[in-house]
Amino acid sequence: MAPANKGLSETGDPLLLTPGPLTTSKSVKAAMLHDWGSRDAAFLRLNREVLEWLPAIVCANGKYAAVPMQGSGTFAVEAMLTSFVPPSGKCLVLINGAYGKRAKRILDIARRTSVVYETAEDTPPDVAEVERILEADRAITHVFAVQCETTSGILNPIGAIAELERKFPVDVLVDAMSAFGALELDAPFLRIKAVAASSNKCIEGVPGLGFAICEPTALEACAGNATTLVLDLHDQWVNTNKTGQYRFTPPIHVIAAFHQALSEFRAEGGVAGRGGRYARNARVLIDGMRGLGFKTLLPDDLQAPIIVTFHMPKHPRFVFQTFYDKLKDRGYVIYPGKLTVADSFRIGCIGRLNEGHMRDTVANVAEVLAEMGVELTHAR
Ligand SMILES: Cc1ncc(COP(=O)(O)O)c(C=O)c1O
Repeated sequence: MAPANKGLSETGDPLLLTPGPLTTSKSVKAAMLHDWGSRDAAFLRLNREVLEWLPAIVCANGKYAAVPMQGSGTFAVEAMLTSFVPPSGKCLVLINGAYGKRAKRILDIARRTSVVYETAEDTPPDVAEVERILEADRAITHVFAVQCETTSGILNPIGAIAELERKFPVDVLVDAMSAFGALELDAPFLRIKAVAASSNKCIEGVPGLGFAICEPTALEACAGNATTLVLDLHDQWVNTNKTGQYRFTPPIHVIAAFHQALSEFRAEGGVAGRGGRYARNARVLIDGMRGLGFKTLLPDDLQAPIIVTFHMPKHPRFVFQTFYDKLKDRGYVIYPGKLTVADSFRIGCIGRLNEGHMRDTVANVAEVLAEMGVELTHAR
């Protein structure tokens, strides 16, 4: 049999099967091969288009405002939480992984009152329990949820959680980081007040820009809430509206690449096209890995097509570091697990990857297992 294909991006790099930063297209990287001044009309046009295009991805075209925030995704989440939750507010944080926990930390550091409803990393929040918590504690003003908790790859029931806003006077804030652009989210219909995401996940840009897509009346009401100068979403919004420019140096090359990535995203058919490709990637990966005897953490109905967590095989010759290194040598970069519930590793399905790449990944995994002398008994 012919040896499995080596993993190679368009620019000859190993393929990143990770939660991001991800493998990007050559044209996205090429968009950075220029210099612009931060007040240059050409750059300001790119930036304006980026901000105009983003709300449509959560069905809020012309209805919500996209507010950029220099930095990684966490900068956008922190800006969203500390700008939207006022000193007098109380935020219910839904946790089933590292990013829910991080939100709680952000609120603690900002001295915002919060309560937590935590479920295991392989368990979505029970919406009836969320309702009971809101019923019992009328001081709660905000609910924070993560759409796809990348720690495990689990899909949380954002729609059902957001619907509780119709019964209780709470504002819903969503960390959509790893789902944005791949999974449907109708923010205006669900009356979500803000959605945070970043440039380097499913839109397939490079890292360096976070953003929050916000309902304008709610954003208006954030004036004066911020706990830092830099992460003040309201101030950033007012200033961008007034001048078209950033308050502080923008990551110009990142924004130019993001503009190109968004053009490619739109050409692929937006959320339906991008999400469809990732769903096919996930199917090939999961079926292939199960065929080799690996077990997924999550059942298919809880699995988002973003990143898949596999249980670490219990085989005396399976050493994760060796497995990882051998795959890396073949051009496939996988990701260690981040779970507390089980020993695991993860393989991402997002970025400039297609079904062929996923089939090649599985073929290389099979060869590496053979090299390591590991034979797994067949999973489901
Ligand atoms: C759901 C979620 N939230 C927040 C983050 C944090 O983003 P960053 O690492 O870019 O700060 C990530 C990163 O993977 C994520 O997946």
